[in-house]
Amino acid sequence: MKGRPLIPFAVIAIIGLLLITVLSFVGLNQREAMQEDAEGNGGEEVTEFDDPVAAGEEMAQQSCIGCHGGDLTGAGGPDLTNLDLSEEEIVHVIINGQGAMPAMPLDEIEADAIAQYLLSLNE
Ligand code: HEC
Repeated sequence: MKGRPLIPFAVIAIIGLLLITVLSFVGLNQREAMQEDAEGNGGEEVTEFDDPVAAGEEMAQQSCIGCHGGDLTGAGGPDLTNLDLSEEEIVHVIINGQGAMPAMPLDEIEADAIAQYLLSLNE
């Protein structure tokens, strides 16, 4: 009973300490990730785009080309590269629809980004 049990005890103690250290680092990383989520990189709604024109182009490619043509110069719907509308008017058409065009399931920020993109084509 002298000396012998001491070595396994030391080994267990070291393993335990290592586990605690490793687990607390894992926990810290998870906490940082959760904080980032709460700060808006995850769950929260987008409030603005870093680059509205680029984001608008991407959404237009997804939502508008079916009716307005691959280059948005018109197909079933009219040419969008030669508009005489303000940013607000374009947002209004996207959100509410107009005539044969249905309202798009986009929020105001998304619609505004698309409007900025369309206006960049109209310059
Ligand atoms: C289902 C087909 C369809 C889709 C999808 C569609 N449009 Fe249209 N759009 C139309 C039609 C048809 C008109 C003409 C409406 C009218 O005035 O009678 C129109 C008109 C418009 C106008 C007004 C043009 C003007 O001179 O008055 C804008 C701006 C516009 N669309 C933008 C968009 C944008 C941006 C998207 C994508 C977010 C989109 N549309 C998606 C069919 C569509």
